[in-house]
Amino acid sequence: MRPGQRSLRFTRSLSALVLQSTILLSLCSWGQAVQAENVTVLEGGTAQISCRLQNYDGSIVVIQNPRRQTLFFNGTRALKDDRFQMVLFTPRLVRITLSNVSVSDEGGYFCQLYTDDTHHQVATLSVVVPPEVPSVEVKTEAVEGGEVELTCLSPRSKPPATLRWVRDRREIPGVVSQQENGKTVSVSNTIRLPVERKDNGAALSCEASHPALVGQKRVRHYRLDVHFAPTVRIIPPQGILREGDSLSLTCSVTGNPLPRNIQWSRVNDTLPERAEISGNTLVMSRLSQSHNGTYLCQAHNNYGRAADHYMLLVYENVSVSVTPSSTSSPTPSSPSLEPEPRDPGAVVETHSAVPYAVIGGVLALLVFTIICVLIVTIWCSVRQKGSYLTHEASGLDEHGEVQEAFLNGNDTSQGKKEYLL
Ligand SMILES: *[C@@H]1O[C@H](CO)[C@@H](O)[C@H](O)[C@H]1NC(C)=O
Ligand SMILES: *[C@@H]1O[C@H](CO)[C@@H](O)[C@H](O)[C@H]1NC(C)=O
Ligand SMILES: *[C@@H]1O[C@H](CO)[C@@H](O)[C@H](O)[C@H]1NC(C)=O
Ligand SMILES: *[C@@H]1O[C@H](CO)[C@@H](O)[C@H](O)[C@H]1NC(C)=O
Ligand SMILES: *[C@@H]1O[C@H](CO)[C@@H](O)[C@H](O)[C@H]1NC(C)=O
Ligand SMILES: *[C@@H]1O[C@H](CO)[C@@H](O)[C@H](O)[C@H]1NC(C)=O
Repeated sequence: MRPGQRSLRFTRSLSALVLQSTILLSLCSWGQAVQAENVTVLEGGTAQISCRLQNYDGSIVVIQNPRRQTLFFNGTRALKDDRFQMVLFTPRLVRITLSNVSVSDEGGYFCQLYTDDTHHQVATLSVVVPPEVPSVEVKTEAVEGGEVELTCLSPRSKPPATLRWVRDRREIPGVVSQQENGKTVSVSNTIRLPVERKDNGAALSCEASHPALVGQKRVRHYRLDVHFAPTVRIIPPQGILREGDSLSLTCSVTGNPLPRNIQWSRVNDTLPERAEISGNTLVMSRLSQSHNGTYLCQAHNNYGRAADHYMLLVYENVSVSVTPSSTSSPTPSSPSLEPEPRDPGAVVETHSAVPYAVIGGVLALLVFTIICVLIVTIWCSVRQKGSYLTHEASGLDEHGEVQEAFLNGNDTSQGKKEYLL
């Protein structure tokens, strides 16, 4: 082996060593030269991706997206996506922004020097999707005596939102399920509730909470719509009805849905010719005995039907002295069902309050007068007797009586006066 060959081999191995060491060195310095920070951003927001440089020597800096497409080649835009902007390029810091971030932008963004593609730093971009206000689906509609099934749905969130059903500030436990839709999650919470008529209109709410909402909640309010069969009640008029009176019968109806129209009828007969129906009220003016009968008010909805009846008896026009109009006006406030009128008795009863009061007053006056007369009589007799006695006494023991009167002071002053009289 010739020395030349030997030295050549040596220089080759030396240069290889140098090359290796420079690679190692650059790797070492690279490890310290670039630092990338993880970023979390809300969907639709703007992410800042920063690469910190140390000992920057003017090499080309390459930034790539998670699919390893080059976004910026030493400050020059390489990918046509205007959402990316280079905002800073200094020997210490390279910073790009990504606006209107979507979940598909998630992943590792690479910062590297062009001369060294074996080593890179990755900034992981995480996108958080807060839930929208959830929606409520009615799976089985609420019918009195049954059960309602309600599903609260939050179709998109990341990480999954937490859904709670609340009624009167208390949580109603439900069945929660999650379904992944690509990168986001659809969450639902289904409850079943027994419902009664009184629950109609009750307020429930479904609350979605999420780390990105920082303690706040997205709330959907829901009012229970409990269907039930109608109830019907005729509000009867007060007092008895006579020929010539007018009558209006009001039918009070409940139900969900509220029956749209009610039917008036007369049992085994047709409605009188002059009967008028306006809204829920049946009006009959100038009653006659031909109006006698049982009147029905009926209503129905999809959940049932209901009826109430009123028996009308029109009385003869006998007592002309009694104003008939006083008994004809119906007072809806009185809920007494089916007035049971006794012909003249009822009239006497309704008008007897005044005579009784008068008699009572006269009696009281009489008693008072008698008492007054009694008092006066007694007083007069006592006075006569007293004066007679004192006169007698004065004759017997004048001094003693006068002394006693003075000693006893005011109490006997009356006696003294009498005595002086
Ligand atoms: C950045 O995110 C990645 C992936 O989620 C993780 O492996 C890495 O440890 C994170 N780095 C820092 C500095 O938090
Ligand atoms: C890369 O860009 C930086 C900053 O603008 C510049 O200083 C450097 O010379 C560039 N390097 C190359 C190789 O063009
Ligand atoms: C943001 O991105 C979405 C699709 O990811 C797009 O529908 C929307 O129009 C964008 N908004 C803006 C302001 O660019
Ligand atoms: C209606 O007629 C039927 C049979 O004709 C009878 O049984 C019923 O009592 C009647 N109802 C009234 C309220 O008059
Ligand atoms: C109507 O009812 C009244 C009271 O019961 C009764 O006196 C009268 O005879 C009835 N008239 C008819 C036509 O039925
Ligand atoms: C009943 O009496 C009223 C008032 O006194 C009168 O206007 C009406 O015509 C009478 N009706 C009948 C049927 O006699």
